[in-house]
Amino acid sequence: MEKLETRATPARGPRHRIAARRLPLLAGALLALVAGLWGALGLLGLDVPLPRTSFAQHHGALMALGFLGTLISLERAVALGRPWGYAAPALAGLGGITTAIGLTVPGKLLLTAAGGWLVAIYITVLVGRRTGGDLAVQLSGAVAWYAGALLWLAGRSVSEIVPWLAAFLVLTIAGERLELARVAFLGRRATHGLLAAAALLGAGAAVSAAWPGPGWRLTGLGMVALAGWLAVHDVARRTVRGTGLPRYAAACLLTGYAWLAVAGTIWLAAGRPASSGLNDAALHAVFLGFVMSMVFGHAPVILPAVLRVRLPYHPILYAPLVLLHASLLVRVAGDLGGVSAARTVGGVLGEVSLLLFGGCALAASRLPRREPA
Ligand code: HEM
Repeated sequence: MEKLETRATPARGPRHRIAARRLPLLAGALLALVAGLWGALGLLGLDVPLPRTSFAQHHGALMALGFLGTLISLERAVALGRPWGYAAPALAGLGGITTAIGLTVPGKLLLTAAGGWLVAIYITVLVGRRTGGDLAVQLSGAVAWYAGALLWLAGRSVSEIVPWLAAFLVLTIAGERLELARVAFLGRRATHGLLAAAALLGAGAAVSAAWPGPGWRLTGLGMVALAGWLAVHDVARRTVRGTGLPRYAAACLLTGYAWLAVAGTIWLAAGRPASSGLNDAALHAVFLGFVMSMVFGHAPVILPAVLRVRLPYHPILYAPLVLLHASLLVRVAGDLGGVSAARTVGGVLGEVSLLLFGGCALAASRLPRREPA
C-alpha cells in the first residue's frame, strides 16, 4: 500500500529498533482492550469473575475510545511528527485505564480531552499541509468522538451515544480509504459521492442527540451509502485479485464493507433497536465485523509504521479473519433467531479471533524475511 503524506511513515533510524517510547502508549490501548473483552464475557451472561464491574459497565467506551481511540490517535501523532501530538494517545490510553478501574468521571474527562486533541491534530494537518476531502472526513470522525464524549460526560449513557462512536470509527476509516482511492485517480463525482455519504452519517449522529429515532435511521442510511461507495470504488476490488498482502488486506476490507451494510440496514429499518438481539447484531456488525476487520487488514502496514516492528504477510493471518467473520455470523444468527446459546458461542469465538490475530501477528513478525524490504 502506498504511503501518503498524512499517514504514519516509518521514522528514520535503525530499521529494526522498536519505537520503545511509543510502547507505553500502546500498552494503554492493550489494557483497555483486555478490560473491555473481559467485561464483554460478563455482558454475554457468562459466570466469569470480573475484577471490576466497570469492565462490563464501560465495555463499549473501553473498546471504541480506550482501545481504538488510542490506536488511531497514536497513528495520527506519528504521522504529525510533532511531540505535542502524542498527548492525544496518552490521554486516551490513560482515560481507558482510568475508566477500566472504575474512576468513571476522570476517565470520561481524559477520553473527552483525547478526542479534542485529535481534532486539533487534524486541523493542524489540514491548515499546515493541504486541504482535501479525505482529511475533512477524518476530521469529522474525530469531531464525532469529541462530541459523543462530551454528551457522555454530560450524563448520556454509552448506548445513547452509539451513533457518535460509529461515526468516529467509520468516518476515520472511510477518510483513509478515500485517501488511497484518490491515488487511484478517482473522479470528482465519485469523491463527492463519498463526501455526501459521510455527511449523511455525521448528520445522523448529530440528529440522534435530540431525536434518536430519525437520527439512528439517518446514521444507518449513511452507513449503507458508505458501504456501497467503498464496495464500488475502493482499490480493494482490484487488489483482491492479486496475491499475498494486497489480497489479504482486500479480503479484510471487502468483508468489512458487507458488515457495515448489514449494520446500516438494521439501523435504517429499525431506528434505535428496541430488542436486545437486534441491538447486539447491529452494534457488533459495525464494531466487530467492519472495524476489527479493518484493523486486521491495516495492521501489517500500520504496525511497522508506528512501532517499527516487522509484520510480514503470512497466509496464517487468514485464520483469525475467517474466525472473526464466522463467529459473527453465528452471533448475529443467534441474535436474530433468539438463540442465546448461539449468541454466546459467537461472542466468545469473536474474542478468540481477536486473541488469535495477536498470536498470529506475533508469529508472523518472528518469521525470517522472505522478500526484499
Ligand atoms: C468479541 C468481542 C466482543 C464481545 C463478545 C462483545 C460483547 C458485547 C455485549 C454482550 C454487549 C451488550 C449488548 C446488549 O446490550 O445487548 C456489548 C455492547 C457493546 N459493545 Fe461489544 N463486544 C465485543 C466487541 C466490541 C468492539 C470491538 C466494540 C467497539 C469497537 C464494541 C462496542 C460495544 C458497544 C458500543 C456496546 C454498547 C454498550 C452500551 O450500551 O453500554 N464491542 N458488547
